[in-house]
Amino acid sequence: MRLLVTGGAGFIGANFVHAVVREHPEATVTVLDALTYAGSAEALDPVADDITLVRGDVSDTELVNALVSESDAVAHFAAETHVDNALADPEPFLRANVIGTFAVLEAVRRHGVRLHHVSTDEVYGDLPLDDGSRFTEATPYNPSSPYSATKAAADMLVRAWVRSYGVRATISNCSNNYGPYQHVEKFIPRQITNVLSGRRPKLYGTGANVRDWIHVDDHNRAVWLILERGTIGRTYLIGANGERDNLSVMRTLLRLMGRDPDDFDHVTDRVGHDLRYAIDPSLLHDELHWAPKHTDFESGLEETIDWYRSNESWWRPLKDGVEANYAERGQ
Ligand code: NAD
Ligand code: TYD
Repeated sequence: MRLLVTGGAGFIGANFVHAVVREHPEATVTVLDALTYAGSAEALDPVADDITLVRGDVSDTELVNALVSESDAVAHFAAETHVDNALADPEPFLRANVIGTFAVLEAVRRHGVRLHHVSTDEVYGDLPLDDGSRFTEATPYNPSSPYSATKAAADMLVRAWVRSYGVRATISNCSNNYGPYQHVEKFIPRQITNVLSGRRPKLYGTGANVRDWIHVDDHNRAVWLILERGTIGRTYLIGANGERDNLSVMRTLLRLMGRDPDDFDHVTDRVGHDLRYAIDPSLLHDELHWAPKHTDFESGLEETIDWYRSNESWWRPLKDGVEANYAERGQ
């Protein structure tokens, strides 16, 4: 299979490319990535001899058309992804997430190529904190932020291209990922690298907000399964029953790093901050027999802490700039 991976130099995309090279050597992998601030060619160094990396924008229709014409399938990860950045400046999110997905859809339509579109549970908006409800494939879209609104728009385009043009596409909406190569602007790596660089961790508001954590490798195994065996036109929710409130995650991280669990700062809350996300992954279990392998969140966090300890040269050059941006926003 000739596989085109958009956004393959980002956190989830790079882990996906590593896994495909490791577990599916029959696949030929081309990565299309703009190498924005969030992209990292270094994240692909371990597989550099096994793949082709093309630096380019997913909204560049000619480039996308040419690459798709030489592919059998596309795994579309490329996106602007950070909610706080979207709140500060939504324009790049429209271009990458909406126009970029449009470019991919037009190319796969023209060349009859299989597409898997990677999306987020944030398209569903948020849930009350303590009623036990969970998102399903039937939950109505209700995005809150410019990030989730552009991901929702992209999902809608994919659904329309399936129905109107018979494009062979699937969609997955996954919960919050953690693991190696996640950018230090995101919650878990930010706190780990705050401790490792002598800064105090930062919690938004009271930390009551709940996220449903999944290890990136479990997400990516689901993506591969859907690409291989998913039903065309279907949406799959990916989650690993990993609900935790932010305060608990913060305290666990500090404990695992040998610090006082209360040694962090409360900072300005995010505007419009979604309260809780939670996924019901039954369809994925029942239809594709997927189950997460990383079921012990604490040992997943320990491995992740170890990875950031051992790979300081990867994250250190990013850290000061990220913290300067946060400081400007009072976060
Ligand atoms: P990331 O920000 O770490 O990586 C995004 C990658 O896309 C980067 O390599 C970046 O250079 C590239 N990119 C951005 N704009 C581009 C453009 N215009 N053209 C080409 N490349 C571009 O993001 P991530 O966390 O790896 O997320 C990957 C996908 O998974 C996204 O579609 C995101 O919405 C989705 N997702 C993420 C999570 C999560 O917890 N991180 C959860 C569910 C779904
Ligand atoms: P984040 O990693 O940005 O993912 P998302 O907003 O897409 O869920 O944030 C996860 C949660 O952590 C979210 O509720 C916001 C919160 N948060 C903090 O408390 N402190 C931080 O420094 C960051 C970056 C996020």
